Amino acid sequence: MLLGRSTFGGWLRERRRMLDLTQAELARRVGCSEITIRKIEANDRIPSRQIAELLAGMLDIPSAERATFVAFARGRPAPSAPHPAGPAVQGVPAPLTRLLGREQAAAAIARRLLDEEVRLLTLVGPPGIGKTRLALHVAAELGPQFPDGARFVPLAALADAQLVLEAVAQAAGVGADAGRALADQLVDALRERALLLVLDNFEHVLPAASEIAQLLTHCPRLTVLATSRAALHVRGEQLFPVAPLALPPPCGPLDAAQVASSPAVQLFVERTQAVAPHFALSADNAPAVAAICARLDGLPLAIELAAARCRLLSPAALLARLAELRAALPAPAQGPGDLPPRHRGLGPAVRGG
Ligand SMILES: Nc1ncnc2c1ncn2[C@@H]1O[C@H](COP(=O)(O)OP(=O)(O)OP(=O)(O)O)[C@@H](O)[C@H]1O
Ligand SMILES: [Mg+2]
Repeated sequence: MLLGRSTFGGWLRERRRMLDLTQAELARRVGCSEITIRKIEANDRIPSRQIAELLAGMLDIPSAERATFVAFARGRPAPSAPHPAGPAVQGVPAPLTRLLGREQAAAAIARRLLDEEVRLLTLVGPPGIGKTRLALHVAAELGPQFPDGARFVPLAALADAQLVLEAVAQAAGVGADAGRALADQLVDALRERALLLVLDNFEHVLPAASEIAQLLTHCPRLTVLATSRAALHVRGEQLFPVAPLALPPPCGPLDAAQVASSPAVQLFVERTQAVAPHFALSADNAPAVAAICARLDGLPLAIELAAARCRLLSPAALLARLAELRAALPAPAQGPGDLPPRHRGLGPAVRGG
């Protein structure tokens, strides 16, 4: 039943498609919202025991296998998952909020990473555009399809490009032996491994790009997904420019439903609701919300920081003060306190500079 998968979300999506069901149809049969199914498939939510049992019924799981199914759905790895070395996806942080939009980008990135010709794919774009977020999503979705899974290597905090190989070794579980060059030890350990390595925020360590290129040359089954504000500029690198979140159409009379379906607006609404639970998108405030997102160029980080101001301001008031806000952001207190330090200093991005 559960062969070949180690995330429940990926398994569920495949099974639903096999049964030719849409997310909406499965949600209707289970009696939950479509968004719940979407989150479960994206591994953003663990189903309740009750939903897991209903899913088992709707997906024709034989009764002898239902207890295993529910345990798997509730977070225990599949007993037959093919990764004896450990979970397929290791060290990939699970975001606390859901991914908005990006369906096409994520599918395009996944397609390219599964192409054997593509060894190094770099998601490039300005600060706060959502490169890391997209890479995390792709790694979680795709890791199980790589025989040796995916590993996440955060580089933003490294003070020195010379520490990159050490960070890779640590993430890949390669113990370093002080007597030999680390690059050689990594090659020995990774030569046979079909692994997806996510190197996040590579712009901090660009001088290490050639070491990564060397590693790829000697480890033919290794695939690297990098995120970076600038290209690594090594041979074999392919670039995937990350676009801003889609905005509502710019001209014509604004249709509230169209506004609500824009991922940029959804991000604004969700982050506003996190600080002002009664906030809702309405025909009245939709034009101001659409205008705010457009003024912030669909940049997710800027939208998040602006939405944090809506605890006290209406969207219309926020829009009116946007010029002033752009100049003032980001004081650390304006956004969530757990933002990474590099994002607290993102004045230029928020100002569009
Ligand atoms: N599609 C999305 N859905 C929900 N939130 C998003 C999305 N894209 C980005 N975000 C949020 O926006 C913020 C900035 O995104 P992220 O950290 O991925 O940007 P980045 O391009 O990696 O920036 P940097 O260059 O500074 O590393 C994060 O809080 C992230 O969770
Ligand atoms: Mg990043």
